[in-house]
Amino acid sequence: MQNKILILDFGSQYTQLIARKIRELNVYCEIYPYNNFPKIDSNVKGVILSGSPFSVRDKKAPVPDLSDIKGKLPLLGICYGAQHLAHNFGGEVAPSEHREYGRANLKINDASCKLFKGIKNNSQVWMSHADTVVKLPDNYVITAGTENINTGAFRVNGEETYGLQFHPEVYHSVFGKEILKNFVVDICGVSQDWTPDAFAETTISELKSKIGNDKVVLGLSGGVDSTVAAVLLNKAVEGNLYCIFVDNGLLRKNEFEEVLKSYKGMGLNVKGVNASEKFYSALRGISEPEEKRKVIGNVFIEVFDNEAKRIKNVKWLAQGTIYPDVIESVSVKGPSATIKSHHNVGGLPDFMKLKIVEPLRLLFKDEVRRVGASLGIGKELLDRHPFPGPGLGIRILGDITPEKVRILQDADDIFISELKKNNLYDKVWQALTVLLPVKSVGVMGDERTYENTVVLRAVTSVDGMTADWFHFSHEFLAEVSNKIINRVRGINRVVYDISSKPPATIEWE
Ligand code: XMP
Repeated sequence: MQNKILILDFGSQYTQLIARKIRELNVYCEIYPYNNFPKIDSNVKGVILSGSPFSVRDKKAPVPDLSDIKGKLPLLGICYGAQHLAHNFGGEVAPSEHREYGRANLKINDASCKLFKGIKNNSQVWMSHADTVVKLPDNYVITAGTENINTGAFRVNGEETYGLQFHPEVYHSVFGKEILKNFVVDICGVSQDWTPDAFAETTISELKSKIGNDKVVLGLSGGVDSTVAAVLLNKAVEGNLYCIFVDNGLLRKNEFEEVLKSYKGMGLNVKGVNASEKFYSALRGISEPEEKRKVIGNVFIEVFDNEAKRIKNVKWLAQGTIYPDVIESVSVKGPSATIKSHHNVGGLPDFMKLKIVEPLRLLFKDEVRRVGASLGIGKELLDRHPFPGPGLGIRILGDITPEKVRILQDADDIFISELKKNNLYDKVWQALTVLLPVKSVGVMGDERTYENTVVLRAVTSVDGMTADWFHFSHEFLAEVSNKIINRVRGINRVVYDISSKPPATIEWE
């Protein structure tokens, strides 16, 4: 069985980042809520306590049960995690005189601490805390501080227990990854063998024994996750995998035909179902964004279910769920609430009575891409920008008509083609166009026009949680704008969205 590190989540915005950094070291780890984690067995080689939006002094502060962990296994507390290890074991945490957010320099005063092996003194670390440890329990030793605080890091005598007030998982902590490596590799002793090839190999053999000779149905979307899931499964149950690719009439221009062709080229057994009319008629007259998402989700289920029923004796439903969706659905909720409903999670209704198989449920997006590459899936499919399940449906503001879809598809096609032509596609994390229900006056030739506005949106991001707008050259924007206005009937104005997320979101609905 796979050796692993457990990360107990107290609701920090950075918890997933800890897991990603550790996975980048080719070490396997899993995130669990602080109050609901599996029994510690011999595969667990160490535990990390995350940060939290709470203060350990809050009445409702999350308190984990560490009785099987502390003193028995290597344990690392980060920020709130560290404060918990001090506060709840005989130390004291108090509000800081200076709240400390941002850069600080780490002054190591115990160079023998295994966590700091090879770490330069005075290196930059990232702080984000309003509380400080003012007194450590008896057998705790301060190992580092900063200009502002004495207890920047500590260890516990006679235990492999460590605390860090700063966040080693964030990019701005220059030696953060080395510190995490010292913990997971040297202190916990986990070998760095979690690679895409190893993942593919073990997953295929697990899928083989789980599914045997049963039939599996899977919904392909053209996106990276469902594609990689399909190729993995196809290797495990060859001949018994039935893929369904639904055209909801809200895909990009020519996408249905092109993607279907490349799927068939990859040897997948895919049925393409054109259900555009069904979607358009269900969406007629609906403008409210969440309502549109629901309708699109429901019609998809209906169409998919109809197709799946035609496959005799199918036992399994495969889904391309990935780790952030899994964590999101169980995570400790801090003050941030759900802003938009994503209908992908939870998937299809029970009446399908199929067993669920989710071969990617432990992977982050970048890991899915690396597994895809190790399975031989081409760059054109793996490096595509994310595309939402409801597609252009949430990029046409207001109600949806086939004519509006045609206009947006044409504008979007010009934008995306120009990005590719100018080698910008891979520099942008996601690019899209939005059709506004706003008409304005223009002039073309000698004629007055009164037509719609298209918004161009392009962002840089790591995971879609935060994003910044991409800085195009004015020449590029001028070229795209000209082409769209000249070639797409129904558009006489193009604008560029210069909002970051937060406070805006990437999509307009
Ligand atoms: P927002 O607009 O929330 O989007 O900043 C973040 C990322 O999520 C995608 N997105 C969706 N994906 N179903 C999806 O599958 C949805 O309903 C949905 N809404 C937003 C969005 O494209 C971006 O990548």
